[in-house]
Amino acid sequence: MPQLPGELEHQNGAAYLPDGERPYYQPVGNEETVFKAAYRQGLSLVLKGPTGCGKTRFVEAMAHDLRRPLITVACHDDLTTADLVGRYLLRGDETVWVDGPLTRAVREGAICYLDEVVEARQDTTVVLHPLADYRRQLPIERLGVTLDAAPGFGLVVSYNPGYQSVLKDLKDSTRQRMVAIEFGFPTPEVEEGIVAREAGIEPAVAAELVRFGQAVRRLETGGLREVASTRVLIAAGRLIAEGLSMRDAALAAIAGPLTDDAVVGRGLAEMIDVYLTAPH
Ligand SMILES: Nc1ncnc2c1ncn2[C@@H]1O[C@H](COP(=O)(O)OP(=O)(O)OP(=O)(O)O)[C@@H](O)[C@H]1O
Ligand SMILES: [Mg+2]
Repeated sequence: MPQLPGELEHQNGAAYLPDGERPYYQPVGNEETVFKAAYRQGLSLVLKGPTGCGKTRFVEAMAHDLRRPLITVACHDDLTTADLVGRYLLRGDETVWVDGPLTRAVREGAICYLDEVVEARQDTTVVLHPLADYRRQLPIERLGVTLDAAPGFGLVVSYNPGYQSVLKDLKDSTRQRMVAIEFGFPTPEVEEGIVAREAGIEPAVAAELVRFGQAVRRLETGGLREVASTRVLIAAGRLIAEGLSMRDAALAAIAGPLTDDAVVGRGLAEMIDVYLTAPH
């Protein structure tokens, strides 16, 4: 059973089999061409961009177009090499080796997507070096073997440059073997289309949310950890689709998630009053 794209991020290591409908992804620049060219050349990719700008959805669409299974791993600082590569587990009185998601992708020729790779520690990501470069090999120390990646294997990592200033865990020599795609927010026209479609609201309403989102982005994070992403605009749209007013939807889905600071929150609420007062 293929999973719905949205379920992916919560199912670590689960394979998404792209045999259904193409996940909806609206290109913003030449990212699809760059991704496919790099993939065909066996080059690894790094996707950079703020939260909620479509990186995960993009990889799902690419896996679909390239007809490869997609194995996603959400990285965190407790992630170990064994979590990626595999470990011996006790089954009854037997110890059996169980492949980790990275090893499965290498064996099956899947696309392995390591989300927020900077969250993982260096002793974990070191295993990526020979995979990310021309060797395309995965050493599995515990088994005493080195696997050659099956044809079709692709390594894609993502990170949010706002959280950490550098891809600190990857060596420069490895980084320079990766192709980078930078994600930003789409133009207002494109974003309107995305928000209207994903939230199931009228384009005119989506346009107002996008106009407000753009105003928040112009604040240049004044006191905000992150600016309003396409994701939060879609969430507001969904609340509107449920009958909430634009104001209530924006307070709950945009202002709330963006800040805990009372002063900043009041500032956002005032902006909402200015931008989204039209009764809905
Ligand atoms: N270009 C786009 N085309 C279609 N949908 C998009 C696009 N950009 C953003 N979205 C929508 O925004 C939502 C968030 O996108 P996604 O989950 O891919 O973000 P992300 O960049 O992976 O974020 P994070 O870094 O937090 O994982 C998606 O559910 C999707 O609906
Ligand atoms: Mg993501």
